[in-house]
Amino acid sequence: MKLFDVYPLNNITIDKALGSYVWDNHGVQYLDMYGGHAVISIGHTHPHWVARIEQQLNKIAFYSNSIQIPLQQQLVDKLGELSGKKDYQLFLVNSGAEANENALKLASFHTGRKKIVAFSSSFHGRTSLAVAVTDNPKIVAPVNETDNVIFLPFNDEEALTQCFAKQGEEIAAVIIEGIQGVGGIYEATSDFLQLIRQLCDTYGAVYIADSVQCGYGRSGQFFAHDIAGVDADIYSMAKGMGNGFPIGGILIAPHFKASHGMLGTTFGGNHLACAAALAVLEVMEKENLVEKARQRGMYLKNMLNKVEGVTVIRGRGLMIGFEVEAHLQQIRKVLLNDFNIFTGEAKPNVIRLLPALTIQRKQMDEFLEAIQEAFTEIQSKMNNLQFYATFSFGWRC
Ligand SMILES: Cc1ncc(COP(=O)(O)O)c(C=O)c1O
Repeated sequence: MKLFDVYPLNNITIDKALGSYVWDNHGVQYLDMYGGHAVISIGHTHPHWVARIEQQLNKIAFYSNSIQIPLQQQLVDKLGELSGKKDYQLFLVNSGAEANENALKLASFHTGRKKIVAFSSSFHGRTSLAVAVTDNPKIVAPVNETDNVIFLPFNDEEALTQCFAKQGEEIAAVIIEGIQGVGGIYEATSDFLQLIRQLCDTYGAVYIADSVQCGYGRSGQFFAHDIAGVDADIYSMAKGMGNGFPIGGILIAPHFKASHGMLGTTFGGNHLACAAALAVLEVMEKENLVEKARQRGMYLKNMLNKVEGVTVIRGRGLMIGFEVEAHLQQIRKVLLNDFNIFTGEAKPNVIRLLPALTIQRKQMDEFLEAIQEAFTEIQSKMNNLQFYATFSFGWRC
């Protein structure tokens, strides 16, 4: 037997982690500017998170959703408090795709309609509906293809207005990331999010804020969509929610009525996952991490702006994307291989920074120094190659 080979792997085995550092099986330390793909919110193996999971594990890890699980109510209360969406309802699942799948399904149940508006460069997951609203035909299997999804250009107010004018009565939902992650760190404008709110109100459609990657404090606000000053009807969440423990959920506005059997899952909201998620929120509150993400992100962006070779910087809080001059594009590999720093990428040439919200100034400076040195290293290797090319060419002549 072997694993189904779907991931291009780095030849590194990580077996220990703390805060913003991870260590491989040879004891080599790496700085994690990638947060294990935006998942690590309160830092690897945060002691409060470990203790809460351990305590829970010694009591009960799982029982089905057929009994009272008070931890779920504690999670709703804390989430309402920290997100500011106090009167919203919570449905718990296990991943980002599952959160979006249920958000879209609920929107369709609620409106009795089928059409969904999604946007260019979107990523919403790989399950059936989630992948159908994802703008990447390569990962859409024939069975996922549907005429129910309308793709529009991101942030194009005119196109959205026209679309609603034409078929607004058929539209069940608009789904949008507050900051596109996989698409390359592009922010939805406040005007665009406000227009979505307004059109959804006018036509009776559901505004779904995909907050799987950009939510949970990462942008410097609890939800990146909050920047527009309007509420979405449904917020989908996952990555940062469990700090690595698999959990996802949707926050659902009060006007949605639940009925028994409408949605369901075996594992969603289990005791252990709730304990992990509660630990995350407790740490976020105690360490004021949403505000820290905002401040730390500003520092990182300001400093990156001064690095020669960086051409474009986008994003907010600790969800940052930057591009570099064409001859420096091997930077991610050099950072990993020569400086032991993990970063993320978005095709074709965006470097994504998604560190833990607990990242320290010292660690950001370590990254900033490394990137300058890495650029110098790449440049001097190129100069050497040019020198040898000229030299050997001259010699042959
Ligand atoms: C914005 C967004 N939505 C949904 C997903 C899917 O989440 P998961 O991989 O947990 O299913 C992702 C994953 O990268 C994402 O970035």
